[in-house]
Amino acid sequence: SPSDPTLVERARRAKAALGDRLFVLGHHYQRDEVIQFADVTGDSFKLAREAAARPEAEFIVFCGVHFMAESADILTSDAQKVVLPDLGAGCSMADMAALSQVETAWELLQDLGVADSTIPVTYMNSSADIKGFVGRNNGVVCTSSNAKRALTWAFERGSKVLFLPDQHLGRNTAVLEMGFDLEDCVLYNPHKPGGGLTPEQLRDAKMILWRGHCSVHGRFTLGCVEEVRERVPGVNVLVHPECRHEVVTAADYVGSTEYIIKTIDAAPAGSAWAVGTELNLVRRLANAHPDKQIMFLDRNVCYCSTMNRIDLPHLVWALEELAAGRLVNQITVDADTAHHARVALDQMLALP
Ligand code: 13P
Ligand code: SF4
Repeated sequence: SPSDPTLVERARRAKAALGDRLFVLGHHYQRDEVIQFADVTGDSFKLAREAAARPEAEFIVFCGVHFMAESADILTSDAQKVVLPDLGAGCSMADMAALSQVETAWELLQDLGVADSTIPVTYMNSSADIKGFVGRNNGVVCTSSNAKRALTWAFERGSKVLFLPDQHLGRNTAVLEMGFDLEDCVLYNPHKPGGGLTPEQLRDAKMILWRGHCSVHGRFTLGCVEEVRERVPGVNVLVHPECRHEVVTAADYVGSTEYIIKTIDAAPAGSAWAVGTELNLVRRLANAHPDKQIMFLDRNVCYCSTMNRIDLPHLVWALEELAAGRLVNQITVDADTAHHARVALDQMLALP
């Protein structure tokens, strides 16, 4: 079993054997059994910065998903090896934007004569290929904690943004934080010719939103918000911006996982919170704050299945292999892609 004391002991021993050669990063959606071994925990923005700030670590074991490990590889030196304990830990949202599809969309914008005034912005939750495309085309990466700053930067340089791959983060940031109208945004469907849009729609839109979403946050509905408000009078609804627009609009607070944690930490004792994000994090918050009433926004259980693939047995295996001198599950990005992706990532890290 994952809470098996021998596994815990083995993880401790392998970590101790590796000492300073090892640095373990843990995303907030990871299981408790894994988080206990993280040297640092964070949202995807914080973890990208932490990876970049550890030049002495030979091995960065990334307890998170594939695109995060790729970003860590891009931001660290060639001598450093990034390891993902289970190679099956992908992200369904990142998989919704393939490079060939994005290139097709870009060619369409070129044919319409608007590519020069379009700045591509990609959410961190995308493959290294997509980040490379964005870097090649003078764009920027963003996360849920700096999406507004990234969009502000982009609109200082162009009149239009192609936002990849999360339609909800793009729409929520543009409409709720930057004062755009819903009509300023169009939804580009990569599975339809022309994205399912007319040339006029593409020419007129300020925000071209890629049709991608998070399968975890996409499950929260307006009905969940209404139901909890009825059931728990005075409840505060706190959600991640990957949630649908109507859910975010109906919520009281919205922000990245790091923001969600800070908000709960600062909440007064006795206050009630319905939190719309991944369940491992919500459970941990509830356990850490017994003086506050913290509940999951949905009645149904809602883990990120790919985040959950990193479990204690996989972590122990990876650490023991590394301690035995065998490099397993290394995540690498080819030099050319990494170079351009790094431009877009560095641009994000330099945002004012
Ligand atoms: P953040 O870590 O930026 O809050 O993003 C949430 C998420 O879905 C990560 O996969
Ligand atoms: Fe991807 Fe959503 Fe899981 Fe994050 S929570 S890794 S965006 S599927």
